Amino acid sequence: MELCVALDLPSAEENLALASLLKPYNIWMKVGFRTYIRDGKLFIEALKAMNPEFKIFLDLKLYDIPNTMADAAEEIAKLGVDMFNIHASAGEVAMQTVMQRLANYEKRPLVLAVTALTSFDETHFQAVYEKSIAQKAEQFATMSYANGLDGVVCSAYESRAIKNATSQTFLTLCPGIRPFGEDAGDQQRVATLELAHSEGVDFPVVGRPIYKADNPQKKVAEILSVMASF
Ligand code: C5P
Repeated sequence: MELCVALDLPSAEENLALASLLKPYNIWMKVGFRTYIRDGKLFIEALKAMNPEFKIFLDLKLYDIPNTMADAAEEIAKLGVDMFNIHASAGEVAMQTVMQRLANYEKRPLVLAVTALTSFDETHFQAVYEKSIAQKAEQFATMSYANGLDGVVCSAYESRAIKNATSQTFLTLCPGIRPFGEDAGDQQRVATLELAHSEGVDFPVVGRPIYKADNPQKKVAEILSVMASF
């Protein structure tokens, strides 16, 4: 299990200050829409310069026509990030086109597919996808596995079923983690670190419980120590 910290603060300075506090740890840093749209490539470079061991997950959830997605995937690979994601609902051709394009890269980033956003509850999910979250997440995961992706983004509650339906080595990255039962915020399907571990989660993603903590560094140290005890 590897911790992924969401850098979702309102400015590059605040995100870099948080990253700097976490410099001693070899963890994953999740750069999402807010940060990437505002601070772009320079921000990625600043993070890498701060600690070359930081792994970077670019959480841009690509969703477009296959060729446009593959073009974007190639630009992402050139940035030197370690992982990015696409929406599984973009479909099999998009998945294949993205993976074929990345095959030219000797060290390509890991590619994950978003199944169901963790902010969805059953009712709102079914209004869009007309299936239960569990059914659809498993179907999307099976499709992603068959088309050569490295894993999926899902809630901790789908992680085990997804691994059973694909492979135990197929990665699950799960947002909505409240390591010690902290406030859920807008997330509907939250899980503790312990539950994430028992469901085989590879990457627990933690945002607010870390960056809103009085002492983010202490919080990360506590999380890593619990993870080390598993
Ligand atoms: O603050 P919190 O721990 O809820 O942050 C979760 C992070 O994971 C946010 O950056 C959010 O955009 C992201 N995310 C998510 N659900 C997904 C994919 C990404 O919450 N399915």
